[in-house]
Amino acid sequence: YVIGVDLGTSAVKCLLVNQRGEVVRTVSKSLRTIREHSGWSEQDPEEWVRQTLAGLAELRASAEVKAEEIEGISFSGQMHGLVLLDEDHGVLRNAILWNDTRTAEECRDIEEAVGKQRLLAIAKNAALEGFTLPKILWVRKHQPEVYDRAAVFLLPKDYLRYRLTGRVEAEISDASGTLMLDVSRKQWSREILEELDLNPEICPPLTESGAQTGTLLPEKARATGLSPDIRVFAGGADNACGAIGAGVLREGQTMGSIGTSGVILSPQDRLESTPQGEVHGFNHARPGVFYFMGVTLAAGDSLAWAKRFLGPNQHYSDFLSPLEEISPGSGGVLFSPYLSGERTPHADADIRGGWIGLDASHTSKHLIRSVVEGITFSLNESVELFRRKGKNIDRMVAIGGGARNHAWLQIQADVFNTEMVTLTNEQGPGMGAAMLAAVGTGWFDSLEECTQSFVKTGKTFQPDPKRVSVYRELFGIYQDIYKQTRGLSR
Ligand code: XUL
Repeated sequence: YVIGVDLGTSAVKCLLVNQRGEVVRTVSKSLRTIREHSGWSEQDPEEWVRQTLAGLAELRASAEVKAEEIEGISFSGQMHGLVLLDEDHGVLRNAILWNDTRTAEECRDIEEAVGKQRLLAIAKNAALEGFTLPKILWVRKHQPEVYDRAAVFLLPKDYLRYRLTGRVEAEISDASGTLMLDVSRKQWSREILEELDLNPEICPPLTESGAQTGTLLPEKARATGLSPDIRVFAGGADNACGAIGAGVLREGQTMGSIGTSGVILSPQDRLESTPQGEVHGFNHARPGVFYFMGVTLAAGDSLAWAKRFLGPNQHYSDFLSPLEEISPGSGGVLFSPYLSGERTPHADADIRGGWIGLDASHTSKHLIRSVVEGITFSLNESVELFRRKGKNIDRMVAIGGGARNHAWLQIQADVFNTEMVTLTNEQGPGMGAAMLAAVGTGWFDSLEECTQSFVKTGKTFQPDPKRVSVYRELFGIYQDIYKQTRGLSR
């Protein structure tokens, strides 16, 4: 067996997977997000560790397998989050997360100091609020007493792995989301660090996604009931791991993931950034491969928000039943999911969402369907950008919460105008982490080989030409909402 741990935003999920790629047990432990001010989003790293240890202990206790039978463990995690550590590797403040948008000013400072085109050439990304580097600069400016004690930073899952193994290392696919990595060379960029007057020592040593990074510390082995000899592999960014779990490893393939955030991801052999950095370019967790990615900040998050007052006590399957009852277009209601700003294509932390087209005859059912359509329209902005870059997208593997509802999958097929493919054993990024461990332990020679036996495709959804044209028209109106409402937030 191997274990994949996905440190998400709303929960940490642990998967026990056997050699046939079957998920034998899953345990999920929820995580709290602290939002002290509008636009802020933080978590307590200690809670990650506590909930992961509890999750692993429960996983081990509930599965009838011996500790020695579990050969490897690896990690996937929410990207970009900043964990600052002092000299003794103690946590200096709460982690600032990927969906925190307080750093607009720092982003401008970065583009001024490094130069936008130079930044795109090295880091393959524009300076965006969610990334790690602007968060470091924010702490330096606003909490100098914290910054002065900072010896090194870690990304969320790398911090978690450090606590389990004692080894301080940054894994490459996640490091590419910091804005400090020279993405093509897979090295920390001295140029970027120098321009911003940052001590290179704040960046931890780098490790490849599939590399072994030690074994479990004895006390952590005792706390979880796992063997101290279990081999620990570095793992990957959640989106890279999601892609591995979906078998999306090569150029020409595309993944659509709808979790708290929504992501369209497609691998690349070479990486030329878009002129304005509208889409992200990162290192894949498969060595030597990159990927393009577009992000909707509040995807599942928008749905969770709407559910809080439109169906607080319902299960998602019931809450989403209006998808079957209301026709495409939600009776004229359109929703823009900019609850915490938007990434692709607008890179605008200030924009806020809205409903338009409300009629006295509308019910909560129209609103619910419109939220789902609005999230899907937002992701379609990324699909269209990829197409404009010459990518042919006629098949997309769906993962995450958005892949669990058939009506939503049909909406995705119709809005994206592409076949949507589901997986029978879809478990999100934790599966990709388990696959990195499966390859690391030597069960397979390569990730491709592992994919052939682990990734099992299920039902597919075909676009319907009539609905495709209904959505095409609505998408044009949806795109106008941004232009028409951006003034409101300024
Ligand atoms: C990607 C991003 C999110 C997080 C969610 O750039 O910010 O998808 O990785 O966990």
